[in-house]
Amino acid sequence: MAGLVLLLVGLVTAGGLYTALAPAQAQDSDTLAIEVEKGRELFLVGCSSCHGLNGEGVSTLDGNNLGPSLVGVGAAAVDFQVGTGRMPMAQPGAQAPRKPVTYSEEETAQLAAYVASLGPGPAIPDESDYSIEGLDDDAKEAAVVRGGQIFLTNCTACHNFEGSGGAMPRGGYAPSLDGVESKYIYEALLTGPQNMPSFSNGNLAPEEKRDVIAYLKSLEEQPGYGGFGMGGLGPVTDGVFAWLVGIGGLVAFAIWIAAHTTRSKKKKVTS
Ligand code: HEC
Ligand code: HEC
Repeated sequence: MAGLVLLLVGLVTAGGLYTALAPAQAQDSDTLAIEVEKGRELFLVGCSSCHGLNGEGVSTLDGNNLGPSLVGVGAAAVDFQVGTGRMPMAQPGAQAPRKPVTYSEEETAQLAAYVASLGPGPAIPDESDYSIEGLDDDAKEAAVVRGGQIFLTNCTACHNFEGSGGAMPRGGYAPSLDGVESKYIYEALLTGPQNMPSFSNGNLAPEEKRDVIAYLKSLEEQPGYGGFGMGGLGPVTDGVFAWLVGIGGLVAFAIWIAAHTTRSKKKKVTS
């Protein structure tokens, strides 16, 4: 009898647990399917002309791409490209520039869900991935210092040491990083838009990405200490300025003195 009761209790709890948990899962996959379906509809209207009806990309006769394949670029790439207004691209060109955003946050999420369903790729990062808010002051400072070192070795070649950007080959450019939201910095690192290399988590660990972001945010908080910024190009423009204006002024002044001393006047009189 006891064995039978135990069996019954076991069955009832198992069944109860199942009904408690299973519908939630089914609902989750349902909402995901709806997201993907809505994303697909948006994609067909706004993106398929360049990226193909199934995101496979469209190649032109001369072997170029109207738009690359999006299989496996992941939700992070869509969130970055659409969230910063780069996509939908207005017309093919050397570089898709940042511009006002066309899609709402909800629509962007739907597009991202659709593209993510095409193949596995990096997911949209969480705030806990790129925020240093949870750390104490010392740890925050250490993160900024480490981030500065990572930035100097990995990013300055293209983005300049102040993050103010620079020119790239074939009409492209690396944009200024001033004011770019943390999430988009993280996604740019993960997905490597256009001419930028991607820094996968194997290359640059998630904490290192977080530190770089902390460094860039610390640059934004730094006040300008007066005077001319001179493009933030550092020692080069400072040096040119010192040579041309500073030393040039001194040389001009020296010539002026030489031409106006009493001795040079006297010489003129006696000769
Ligand atoms: C006018 C053509 C055009 C349209 C329309 C367009 N794209 Fe693109 N897309 C491109 C091109 C070209 C690139 C490659 C950019 C580059 O590498 O210079 C690209 C790149 C991308 C990438 C980055 C892929 C990667 O490898 O990281 C994503 C994601 C993307 N597009 C999503 C979209 C979405 C979503 C839409 C619709 C809302 C869209 N695009 C509309 C032309 C287009
Ligand atoms: C080889 C050159 C190169 C290197 C190295 C590079 N970037 Fe970039 N980066 C670019 C280019 C080019 C773009 C513009 C891509 C575009 O417009 O889609 C870009 C775009 C970005 C953006 C997006 C800015 C915006 O306006 O939305 C961020 C953020 C960024 N880079 C951060 C970094 C960081 C941090 C590093 C170092 C870990 C780095 N990049 C290294 C070339 C580079």
